[in-house]
Amino acid sequence: MTNSRSTIFFTLLLITLFLLSPPAFGDSNNNNNAFLTYTCSSYDNYTANTPYANNLKQALYQLTSTAPPSGFGLTSVGDDLQNQVNALALCRGDVSPTDCKTCIQVASNEIQQQCLNKKGGSIWYDFCFLKYSNIKFFGKIDNGFRLYMWNVQEAENPTVFNEQVKNLLTSLVEQVEVTPKLYVIGEKENEGSKKLYGLVQCTRDLSTAACKKCLTDAVAELPRCCDAKIGGRVIGGSCNFRYEIYPIVDAQK
Ligand SMILES: *[C@@H]1O[C@H](CO)[C@@H](O)[C@H](O)[C@H]1NC(C)=O
Repeated sequence: MTNSRSTIFFTLLLITLFLLSPPAFGDSNNNNNAFLTYTCSSYDNYTANTPYANNLKQALYQLTSTAPPSGFGLTSVGDDLQNQVNALALCRGDVSPTDCKTCIQVASNEIQQQCLNKKGGSIWYDFCFLKYSNIKFFGKIDNGFRLYMWNVQEAENPTVFNEQVKNLLTSLVEQVEVTPKLYVIGEKENEGSKKLYGLVQCTRDLSTAACKKCLTDAVAELPRCCDAKIGGRVIGGSCNFRYEIYPIVDAQK
C-alpha cells in the first residue's frame, strides 16, 4: 500500500518539476508526453521466471496492441488465481493510436523497472496511464493513490477564479455520465479573465455512475489541491481532471 509519505514525496517532486518548467502561456504542451508519477501498489512480491512474471509480461504486451485503437484496454492473464495478472491501459481521450501505443510501451518498460518484483503498480504520463495488479480491480474505484499537481502562479481574484474552476469541472463531470468514452473536455469564457480549459477522464472499466462518483470526489479536492492556482490536476488510479488557462488538447485550440 502506498503511504501518504510517498504521496507527499511525489507531490513535492512534481511541484519542483512545475517550477523548473512552467508551461509557456498559450502552449498546450500536448506534443510532450511528460512522465508524471508511479506507485507500486502491492505488498506482495514475485520473482523472475515464475508464472506471475510471465503473465505480467504477457498482459502488458497484450495491452500495447489492444488498447491503442480505442484508447483503452483491459486484460487478465493466468487461469490460476494465485498467478493471475490483471491490467489496464488508458490513453488520454485525444491521443492518437500511434502516440497511445508508444506511451503504453514506454510505460510497460518503466513500471516493470520501477516496481521490480512487486505484484502491483501504476504509472502515469500525460498521454497514458497503465496499471497492473494481482488483485482483480476491474470496475472498482481505486482510492489507493492520489496525486495533486498545480501551477504555482495564483489567480488575481482567487474567490471568483476558484468558483469558475469548480463550475467548469462540475459541468464536465455531469457530461461524462452520457459519454461512452468517459472523457470530456470543455472550456469556459469568463468575464474579465482568461478562458478556462478543462478535462475529465475515467478508466473505462468503471460504470458511468462510478466514474461520476470518482470525479466528484476528485473535484471535491480542489481546495486542498489547487486553491487559487491558475492550473491544476488531481490524478488517481480510476479518474483524473485537469484545468488550465491555456488549451490542454489540440481540440481546444
Ligand atoms: C516483499 O518484499 C519487501 C522488500 O524486500 C519485504 O519488505 C516484504 O515483506 C515482502 N512481502 C512479502 C509479502 O513477503
